[in-house]
Amino acid sequence: MKTAFIFDLDGVIVDTAKYHYLAWQRLAAEMGFSFDETDNERLKGVGRMQALDILLEIGGLSLTEDRRIQLAQQKNIWYVEYLEMLNQDAVLPGAVNFLKKSRQLGLKTALGSASRNASTILKKLDLLPYFDVIVDGNSTTRAKPDPEVFVLGAKALNEPPSSCVVFEDAQAGIDAALNAGMTAVGVGLPEHLEGAALVIPSLQVLTPQSLIIQLL
Ligand code: BG6
Ligand code: MG
Repeated sequence: MKTAFIFDLDGVIVDTAKYHYLAWQRLAAEMGFSFDETDNERLKGVGRMQALDILLEIGGLSLTEDRRIQLAQQKNIWYVEYLEMLNQDAVLPGAVNFLKKSRQLGLKTALGSASRNASTILKKLDLLPYFDVIVDGNSTTRAKPDPEVFVLGAKALNEPPSSCVVFEDAQAGIDAALNAGMTAVGVGLPEHLEGAALVIPSLQVLTPQSLIIQLL
């Protein structure tokens, strides 16, 4: 029986994945190479520095540590600027309802995100009260597909991995959930979410109750 849900943030709860993409694309353009949505799939879910390294590999660039830190900071400055546009419309379809219903059912809820901006986003959109526990890029040291973020979430919820369901929009996140010994539900397109027990286009298409029954 599943008793806890762990949610990724960007691309699952809020529509911020597009702002990450815009900021990385702008950085690539400044460095003189193009970067498209297919390339962007590889950056989804992973931490900021790891994402930068993938971007530089795509551009065929090898840079010093100092320069890499500078570029990651620049990307984040742009990303945070884009976040100023964020309002309730950015909350993805069905997300709030799904969170509310999960809690009404007595399920525990955690956030498991690589982002160091997670709390800022949740606060801005009044979403903090829907989570028992927040684990984000400030409390982790290893990027997805390492299971650390989800393992910490389950520990903080006091639940064994086998009782946890992870909701993820990125392949790195699905792999992290599986590496943690949890069940993964993909949110997005099946071709980007291999290994998920179920792939849904959004949290709008199912209820926590129907999901729990399906996963029995
Ligand atoms: C993940 C995003 O949630 O957070 C990645 O999918 C992003 O695209 C990562 O790189 C780190 O986010 P931030 O906000 O700390 O740069
Ligand atoms: Mg995501």
